[in-house]
Amino acid sequence: MADYTPTREDRFSFGLWTVGWQGVDVFGGAARPPLDPAESVHRLSDLGAYGVTFHDDDVIPFGSSAAEKEAALKPLREALAATGLQVPMITTNLFSHAVFRDGGFTNNDRDVRRFALRKVLDNLDLAAELGARTFVCWGGREGAESGAAKDIKAALDRYKEAVDTMTQYIVDSGYDLRIAIEPKPNEPRGDILLPTLGHALAFITELDRPELVGLNPEVGHEEMAGLNYAHGLAQALWHGKLFHIDLNGQHGPRFDQDLRFGAGNARGAFWTVDIVENGGYDGPRHFDFKPPRTEDFDGVWASAAGCMRNYLILREKVRAFREDPQVREALSAARVDELSQPTLTEGESLAAFRAEEFDPEAAAKRGMAFEALDQLAIEHLYGVR
Ligand code: GCO
Ligand code: MN
Ligand code: MN
Repeated sequence: MADYTPTREDRFSFGLWTVGWQGVDVFGGAARPPLDPAESVHRLSDLGAYGVTFHDDDVIPFGSSAAEKEAALKPLREALAATGLQVPMITTNLFSHAVFRDGGFTNNDRDVRRFALRKVLDNLDLAAELGARTFVCWGGREGAESGAAKDIKAALDRYKEAVDTMTQYIVDSGYDLRIAIEPKPNEPRGDILLPTLGHALAFITELDRPELVGLNPEVGHEEMAGLNYAHGLAQALWHGKLFHIDLNGQHGPRFDQDLRFGAGNARGAFWTVDIVENGGYDGPRHFDFKPPRTEDFDGVWASAAGCMRNYLILREKVRAFREDPQVREALSAARVDELSQPTLTEGESLAAFRAEEFDPEAAAKRGMAFEALDQLAIEHLYGVR
C-alpha cells in the first residue's frame, strides 16, 4: 500500500482559522480554547503541510495599533522562519466585527465601506510583504436578508469599485499578487452577492483589470447550491480563472459544514482530485475546514491530518483509474476523446455541411457506454480495483 504521508512537495496549506476554530456556532459558545497561531504553524509543519494562510484578524487583533500589529506578527514570523512554512495566500476579515453587519465593500453605510477598503489595502501590504501570491476576497457579509434594504445594482457598483481600487493599488505598488473571489450562496447573509462561480466569473468581466482577478472555489459552497464542484473547477480552468481552491467536505444542500476534505461527498471528492491533479491547476492544495466542535485538540490535529491523507488516498485512486487499461478502453467506448474534435472540419463549407446525409434513427440506437465507465470509477473509489 502506498505511503500517504504528506510532504512539502504536495503543497498542502491550511487556514489558521480552520484548526484555530473554537467551535462557536449559532447555538453555543467556544468549545475549545484559542490556539496560538505560532503553535499552529509548528503543528501543521510537523504534519506535513507546506503553507498557512490567514485573515488579518486571525493574527492581529482587530483595532491594533501599528506597534501592536508588529508585536502580534512577531511570533508568527519566527514560527515561519523556524519551520520554513510559506504564506501563499492572505485574506481579510470583513465579517466578524459588528461594524460589518451589513458587509464591507457593499455596506449601505459609506463610512463603513471606506473603513473596509482601508483594512483591505493595509492587508494587501502585509500579503506582499509575506510573499503571498493570492489575496482571497470572501464576501460573506456582502448581501441581504430582506428585499428593499439592498439596491443590488448599486451594491455591485460598489463591489466593482472596491476590487478596481485594490487592483490599481497592486499595480501601482508593483506587487506580485492576484485577487481570488470566493463565492458562497448564503450564510452568514440570507443571500450573498456573487453567490456562485458563474456569478463571480461574469462580475470579473466588468472589472478594470480582469486579468488580476480570478476565483477561489470552495467545495462546500458549490455543493450548498446543489452544484458540481469538479465541473465548477473545470470551467474556472477553462476561463484561466482558477487562482486558488478551498477544499473541504459537505453533505448536500444544507448549512456550510466545512467537514474535513474527503468526508462528505466522497464521489465528488474523487472527481475533484482528478481535475485538480490533471486539469492544469498548479496552486496550493488549500484546506478550509472546521474540525467539529465535538473535538479536543487531539481531534483537531487528527482532522487536519485526515484532510491531507484523504487527498493523497484519492490522488492514488485517481492515478490508478487513469492508468487502468480497462478504463482507457471504456473511455474510448464512451467516445470521450471525440468531444475534443471540433464539430466542423476546418475550412468546411457550410453549404456542404448542411447538405450532409445523417440517419438520426441509426445514431439514436448507439448507446453511450457511460455506465460501464462510471462503474470502473466507482470500483476504483470503493477500493476493489
Ligand atoms: C466560510 C468561508 C471562509 C473563507 C475565508 C477566507 O464559509 O466561512 O469559506 O472560511 O474561506 O474567510 O476568506
Ligand atoms: Mn465555507
Ligand atoms: Mn472558504
